[in-house]
Formats: sequence, structure tokens, C-alpha cells
Amino acid sequence: MRRLRKQRDELLRLYKQLSSELGETNRGVVALYAELDQRSAELRAASEAKTRFMTSVGHELRAPVTAILGLVRLLRDPGSDPLTPDQAEQLALLEGSAADLLGLVNELLDLAKAESGRLEPRWGTVDLPGLFGALRGTMRSISRSGAARPDATRTEVEIVVEEPDGLPPLRSDEAMLTQVLRNLMTNAIKFTREGEVRLAARPVGADRVAFTVSDTGIGIPPTEQERIFEEFYQVPGAAQADVTGTGLGLPYARRLVSLLGGELTLASAVGEGSTFTVVLPLAPPEPR
Ligand SMILES: Nc1ncnc2c1ncn2[C@@H]1O[C@H](COP(=O)(O)OP(=O)(O)OP(=O)(O)O)[C@@H](O)[C@H]1O
Ligand SMILES: [Mg+2]
Repeated sequence: MRRLRKQRDELLRLYKQLSSELGETNRGVVALYAELDQRSAELRAASEAKTRFMTSVGHELRAPVTAILGLVRLLRDPGSDPLTPDQAEQLALLEGSAADLLGLVNELLDLAKAESGRLEPRWGTVDLPGLFGALRGTMRSISRSGAARPDATRTEVEIVVEEPDGLPPLRSDEAMLTQVLRNLMTNAIKFTREGEVRLAARPVGADRVAFTVSDTGIGIPPTEQERIFEEFYQVPGAAQADVTGTGLGLPYARRLVSLLGGELTLASAVGEGSTFTVVLPLAPPEPR
């Protein structure tokens, strides 16, 4: 009997100890939640501030840059005084730089708009053969002109755009999808010296489609594979030295893909190449 009572007391003691420990853990979890809540509010505020910043800088820059371009055109006007060859050359440089700057400003404004939720997809049936055909044309000419890669060291890179055959009808925003694929292909061409850049599409399950842009270029190290989706981030190194760009293409592409209800992912090995995959739903996602 005494032994039983002793055992019962011991059990009771253990029970009390356990429940007090549980209570403490609970309080800890509640505190952690509160902290997480606060952190996520701070993050949201920071990201809204960033979007506001991009928008205002973009707008402030656009007016003066547009004015510069306008003035350059005025100076070029056949009705004004003739220019010396030197002046004409300087003017062309000025125009090129101003146009680059305007391109950057527009990229910044596009991204800010996509981030602020003010960009709404216009859903419609996508003409995939038409879209692929247009990309085949523009990408081949970019590749041939060397516009994306001004250095003379490149050898032939083949641009292969497969026929988008055997796909179910896709309802999405054709203009946004075109922008995404154009961004990915321009990157692929920029970072590939030889081999090929390939665009393909295939069905995924019953209700999705995957677009892949693969290249045989320099590849992206594992540690950089998430960072390249951050604004202005570019992989450091020599490869970056001889190409143009600002590091806004991928964050914008990922943003657009998410507006379309899809996902943009990447597989890559250094020295072997990269494959960017866009998986889209065949129909607009249900509004949340
Ligand atoms: N296909 C690729 N192969 C190797 N590196 C890539 C590839 N695509 C992107 N990257 C790396 O990711 C970086 C970010 O790409 P992103 O498109 O955002 O910017 P960008 O091409 O440098 O400039 P922008 O697109 O704004 O003109 C690139 O600078 C490059 O370092
Ligand atoms: Mg880019």
C-alpha cells in the first residue's frame, strides 16, 4: 500500500512538472508568434517603401530623359544648322545613352507597377504558334546583331524555337507571357558563347503547361540561383563584364509569372548551361 502511494505521489509530481513545462513552452510559442507577426508587418512595410521608391525615382527620371531625347532629335532636324561629323557622332552617343537610360527607367516602372498590384492580366486565348513565330524572328535577329553581347568573341549560337504542337488551348495574358519568354531568351543569348538556346513547350498533367528556355551557356552557381531573382542582382565575375543589363529582367519575369498564377524556376550547372522553366495554369486561377 505504501509503495503504491509513493508511486502515485511520484506520478503526480511528474505530471505537475510536465504541465508547468508545457505551459512555459506555450507562452514561448505565443511570444514567437507575436514576434513573427511584427517581423512580417515590418517586411511588408519595407517592401511597400521599396515599391514607392522605385515608382518615384522612375517618374522623376523619365521626364528629364525624355526631354534630352527630344532635344537631340531637334538638333538632328534637317531644318536646323548642319552638324559637323564630330558633332553628329557625339549626338548619336548622347542619344544612345539617353535611350539606354529610358529603357532602364521603364523597366523600373514596370517592376514597381507589377509589385504594387496595379498590373492586371488581360486573360485571353494565347496564340502559341504566332507567339513562338514572333520570338523566333526577334531572337534570331538579336543574336545575329550581337546587340546583347557586344564582344566579338562569340561563335555561332543556334536559336531553336520548337513548334508548340500538341498543346491544349491556353488562356493567359499573351503580352505578359511574351515579355517573360523574351526576357529569358535574351538572357540565354547573352550568357551563351556557343551551342544553342532553345525554347520549348509541353503539357504538364491535365491542367498546366511548361515553357522551357534552355541554353548551353556559362551556367549559374547554386549559391546564386535564388539571388538572381532579386532586383539589380547580377552574378559577380568576368562573364558580366562584357554584357549589358541592369538586373531587373528576372525579378520582373518572376513577378509577371506569379500574376499569371504560375511559377518560374531554374536548374543550372556551371559550365554546362541553364534551363528556366515557366509553368502556367491552362486557365486563369480562381480569384482569391
Ligand atoms: N541564362 C543565364 N545564364 C547565366 N547567367 C544568367 C542567365 N540568366 C540570368 N543570369 C544571371 O542573372 C543575372 C540577372 O538577370 P536579369 O535578367 O535579372 O538581369 P540582366 O540580364 O543582367 O539585366 P536586364 O535583364 O535588366 O537587362 C544576370 O546578370 C546573370 O548574372
Ligand atoms: Mg536580363
